[in-house]
Amino acid sequence: MTKDQNQMWGGRFAAGPDAIMEAINASIGFDQRMAAQDIQGSRAHANMLAAVGIISDTDADAIGEGLLTVLSEIEGGTFQFSTALEDIHMNVEARLKELVGEPAGRLHTARSRNDQVATDFRLWVRDQMDAAIEGVDALMRAFLAQAEAGADWVMPGFTHLQTAQPVTWGHHMLAYVEMLSRDKSRMQDARRRMNESPLGAAALAGTSFPIDRQMTADALGFDRPCANSLDAVSDRDFALEFLSCASICAMHLSRFAEELVIWSSAQFRFVTLSDRFSTGSSIMPQKKNPDAAELLRAKIGRIFGANVALMMVMKGLPLTYSKDMQEDKEQVFDAADNLMLGLAAMTGMVSDMTANRDHLRAAAASGFSTATDLADWLVRALGMPFRDAHHVTGSLVALAEKRGVDLPDLSLVDMQSVHADITQDVFTVLSVEASVTSRTSFGGTAPDNVRAQIKHWKEVLA
Ligand code: ARG
Repeated sequence: MTKDQNQMWGGRFAAGPDAIMEAINASIGFDQRMAAQDIQGSRAHANMLAAVGIISDTDADAIGEGLLTVLSEIEGGTFQFSTALEDIHMNVEARLKELVGEPAGRLHTARSRNDQVATDFRLWVRDQMDAAIEGVDALMRAFLAQAEAGADWVMPGFTHLQTAQPVTWGHHMLAYVEMLSRDKSRMQDARRRMNESPLGAAALAGTSFPIDRQMTADALGFDRPCANSLDAVSDRDFALEFLSCASICAMHLSRFAEELVIWSSAQFRFVTLSDRFSTGSSIMPQKKNPDAAELLRAKIGRIFGANVALMMVMKGLPLTYSKDMQEDKEQVFDAADNLMLGLAAMTGMVSDMTANRDHLRAAAASGFSTATDLADWLVRALGMPFRDAHHVTGSLVALAEKRGVDLPDLSLVDMQSVHADITQDVFTVLSVEASVTSRTSFGGTAPDNVRAQIKHWKEVLA
């Protein structure tokens, strides 16, 4: 046992306790992703300190120049990150000291790592939110293009994954455009709320220096400074809102991924995925697997996990900052990476996929999908109460099943054996085309509705 190994557990750990403390304490391994934001925040802070006369212009210039050098070293991959210096904030400041000397020591006036990290992280999350909004937009366009290509193509609509009623391909595609537009507006709302600057809250209580928080807020593109210094350093709602927006959006991606897995199977053949987003099997030559959709469906769980994990980190913390909060970043980084990857992969799959119009139509016409149209005809033509019409239609479906035919193929004689008043006119409502064309109620699946919605979304996304 070496002298710095712990008496109790030293045998298990080769490193001494100081090294273990360093390992658990350091965040530089991951928070270096916020280097650009850290430097941006420090530059704004230094400029403000000079503007209000807390430091000299000469010092502010030296700090500003030095920080740009640090940034170029980090971007160029020549920067030496040190675990002993814990995090990105201290790594940057230490290098600044090497580069510009004494003025570097004045940068941290009227500031703490607590408001610094809160500021950096907000800037980082805000960038991701903007990127996610763009990603959602691109996917909306991909779905819209699919809707336009097959606005009036008929496919089965499902409930319980059982054939329910015929719908149009365009209508199904536009359902995802609706979901994504809610994702986008949720993200825009959250972005607006997060856009306040924690910088200048200092450790937790504010500062006695005559700082100008509006000035740093403006320089960093924030709408205003956070109004309460305690809240400013202890709040991570912005990260949680990002994760919850990301989770809901990811859930939408996962649902379509699931549809693609089903639809691309040999049993359904509703769509053909492009080779770019499929893989083959090493043993079964006929296989073309929807791997991208499957992986996307699985990866989405990590985003939900991150959301729950950060809630767990935050729920027990008294005001204000606790070191627990250092655990906020990896979750958000991982979730953001996976959301962006998921959006890109889904946009690729949707843009590339080919809907198999004939299979869609054939599937729509099976499973007695126009039974509701038949019941509606009994109500309209014979004045029957819907409940009775439902019952009569049920008997007709049973008869068709017995004959081994679909509803439009029953003879009029057969129909009249169930209800004597049925006339030849009933056959006009039994085709899948007639079914979808008749569903013109607002929000319904009729091709005319779909075309009007496509026009609407093209204007919105223009
Ligand atoms: N690395 C820290 C974090 O990510 C920075 C803030 C440290 N503040 C402190 N009081 N120790 O949370």
